[in-house]
Amino acid sequence: MDPHHLVNGVLVPPFVLQSRVDKLKQMDLYLDDVWVVSYPKSGTTWTQQIVRLIRNNGERMNTKISDDVPYLEATAAVGSMNVDDYCSELNLEDLPRPRAFKSHFPYNCLPCGPPHTTPCKYIYVARNPKDVVVSLYCFLQGFAGLEWDKFWKSHIEGNSPYGDHIAHLLSWWAHKDEENVLFLKYEDMKKDPSRAVSQIASFLGADLSADTISKIVDLTSFKKMKADNTANFSWDKASIKDGEPTFLRKGIVGDWKNILTPEQSAQMDATWEEKQKGTGLILDFE
Ligand code: A3P
Repeated sequence: MDPHHLVNGVLVPPFVLQSRVDKLKQMDLYLDDVWVVSYPKSGTTWTQQIVRLIRNNGERMNTKISDDVPYLEATAAVGSMNVDDYCSELNLEDLPRPRAFKSHFPYNCLPCGPPHTTPCKYIYVARNPKDVVVSLYCFLQGFAGLEWDKFWKSHIEGNSPYGDHIAHLLSWWAHKDEENVLFLKYEDMKKDPSRAVSQIASFLGADLSADTISKIVDLTSFKKMKADNTANFSWDKASIKDGEPTFLRKGIVGDWKNILTPEQSAQMDATWEEKQKGTGLILDFE
């Protein structure tokens, strides 16, 4: 995936091109557009799936998640990752409304302008930095053989795709109370998925029955999504290992304990403590 480059001041993977992002600046936005935004490996796909099921009244779709909720800033295949598997080239005006998009940009760097300047809604999904670095490492490992210690150092220095994770989290956290922003935490979603689905539904103005909410919780469980060929990226051959799609890997809180050394864990604790101090953002690490 290397080398990363800067677009709108953010370190992005090679398949995010300035030309594409500039084009997005011109897009018309609507009140019923919703963006699912996160730092990579924070539960984006899970939230995309919840959003599209809410919009479809709990009925499973046969279409691919990446077609229904496209990764907007991604463009043509570059390098070893076939981005077409994640977002086909699309004509925005052809997408049926209400539209939903995925993005990984920090608050101020979204191509269509920061949320307070736009009419649509934004769901930001936060996840604790230790599980994110492990999930990101395992994911990228599939595309480019990575060495953990080197990856760790580069990540902690803010050199992963989409830059420094904690800065990303804080960029959105500062706006969590804005009317068009819903700030969710992966660990809360795991603890109480029913509450997460209800929160998202009410944020989107969808009046769903308790039965429909339960149905969505069931369809978006880790187990169901991993087996769902419209949501598990099984169409991305690079992420198939031993015949199994690996995009949905473990889906748990605290897997970092299997990979981080005690020194790395302490280093992240110190970094987190220093950067998050005074912001009020608390994330569960286990
Ligand atoms: P792990 O690698 O820790 O398993 P993203 O969609 O932002 O790329 O995030 C991917 C992470 O979310 C992966 O974490 C994946 O397993 C997890 N995930 C995806 N769907 C999930 C679900 N329905 N429930 C819990 N975790 C899920």
